[in-house]
Amino acid sequence: MGDHTPASGPDFGRGIAISAIPDDGVLAGQVDGQPVLLARVGGALHAVSASCTHYGAPLGEGLRVGDEIRCPWHHACFDLRSGRALHAPAFAPLACWQVEVRAGMAYVRAAAAETAAETVTEAAAEQGAAPRRVVIVGGGAAGYACARRLRERGFSGRITLLSEERAPPVDRPNLSKDYLAGNAPAEWIPLQAPEEYAAQDIALHLGCTVTALDPAARQVRCADGTVFDYDALLLATGAAPVRLPGFDAPNAFTLRSLADADALLAALDGARTLALVGAGFIGLEAAGALRSRGLEVHVIAPEALPLAGLLGEALAAALLARQRAQGIVFHLGCKTESFDGRALRLSDGSTLAVDAVLLGVGVKPRTALALAAGLTVEDGIRVDAGLRTSAPGVYAAGDVARYPHAGGWARVEHWVHAQRQGQAVADAILGNPVAYAVPPFFWTHQAGIELRYVGHGRGWDNLELDGDPAAGDCLVRYYRGGQLVAAAAIGRDRALLELEAALAGAP
Ligand SMILES: Cc1cc2nc3c(=O)[nH]c(=O)nc-3n(C[C@H](O)[C@H](O)[C@H](O)COP(=O)(O)OP(=O)(O)OC[C@H]3O[C@@H](n4cnc5c(N)ncnc54)[C@H](O)[C@@H]3O)c2cc1C
Ligand code: FES
Repeated sequence: MGDHTPASGPDFGRGIAISAIPDDGVLAGQVDGQPVLLARVGGALHAVSASCTHYGAPLGEGLRVGDEIRCPWHHACFDLRSGRALHAPAFAPLACWQVEVRAGMAYVRAAAAETAAETVTEAAAEQGAAPRRVVIVGGGAAGYACARRLRERGFSGRITLLSEERAPPVDRPNLSKDYLAGNAPAEWIPLQAPEEYAAQDIALHLGCTVTALDPAARQVRCADGTVFDYDALLLATGAAPVRLPGFDAPNAFTLRSLADADALLAALDGARTLALVGAGFIGLEAAGALRSRGLEVHVIAPEALPLAGLLGEALAAALLARQRAQGIVFHLGCKTESFDGRALRLSDGSTLAVDAVLLGVGVKPRTALALAAGLTVEDGIRVDAGLRTSAPGVYAAGDVARYPHAGGWARVEHWVHAQRQGQAVADAILGNPVAYAVPPFFWTHQAGIELRYVGHGRGWDNLELDGDPAAGDCLVRYYRGGQLVAAAAIGRDRALLELEAALAGAP
């Protein structure tokens, strides 16, 4: 978080030769100590802030595709003409700067121009068919992104966001990283300040569990009996962590919400030892974050090499070596048998005395509402390419949605993917439906490494490794049947963006 883009390079305020500005890339420089990008777009010169509005990445190290600049860190896209954020995880636009052209030179003026207003594209409204009451079930990545996109694109109807969580939508990925490590100031966690929902005219109902959906009456009912009518409904209920049988002790935790993270941290106050059951991304991030607090951390997992099935052996081995170097103790090829609140018995016959257990053994999509309402459910709520469920006017997005992908079906559990699906549903409600075909993207921060991954690599049968994962510098391409299906990178951000564009079929 914060701004990681230093103001460096040519001072555009003093002028730069127009010939120095590339035809199809961007030029990074500065104006009055602020980082700025200059680009030629459609025969004109445009200047926008060079710092990503998500976590402040240097956009000059990103990739230009057409009129867009894509962020090197978490792949947000911005329009180079207007600065508008086109795709999550960034929402706020880039500041725009005025460019003056004189005698073969371009001068960027300190006074930032107003960012171009969003174009109102209520195409369906013009045809008289637009929904006026949108209800969103789920205050997470997909639900938040849908609500925000609707307003940003000029939707003037009612937006109701219903969330079981007590906290307004939070930056969930942070919970297993800086937040658990104790490095995240409180203001990093909400996706936006609570008062902004009222300012955006989004009716946010917290601590509100939706218990029934009636697709014929176009209504949802909440636990307190309140009923909401909708013209369009988004089910963005996400997924719930799996709780293993026998792990009912009060010091056995799962991690999904801010409340979960706070409960875990409270229990660890004064504790010495934690066991993590399972070795997936979130659990391993949590293990590293808690280890950095000085706890003795044990990881118990049945695999011989965690994450090898997804990432390949070399990359997985490099991660494991770094985690071991952090002092995390691994019990691999091993399962848990029982936990009585103190003694954790393992399948190799050993027993660990621990103060708390964190279960990281996967999640299950939260489909109960859809199932009871008669929607088609099959490892997630089935949606078509436009993210429509089997019930009219009802969409699903994010972890809970199973959508058509590459000739089959996929259900993806990634933050940016969920947000982008939420945005796609907003576009569809506004009368601009698209067939959702964006390659999934995720990142993870473990043992001092930022690993980023694009595509859908399940079932890969061949890989190409370039670089040295142990040295924290590599690019891995994954193939299935000779076809590139995914890529992972450490320290090769531009190359990964290029592969993402290739996977999306961009020119
Ligand atoms: C700790 C942690 C770290 C993560 N780190 C990363 C990462 O680094 N990179 C990455 O790509 N992904 C990461 N993920 C995964 C990512 O957060 C999820 O893929 C994403 O949040 C899914 O978004 P969603 O909107 O589908 O679901 P969620 O964000 O889970 O939101 C679902 C919402 O629906 C609500 N809800 C459910 N049922 C009801 C109901 N009946 N009534 C009312 N509300 C309901 C829930 O309370 C919740 O608010 C992480 C997840 C966790 C838990
Ligand atoms: S810093 Fe740009 S998308 Fe995250």
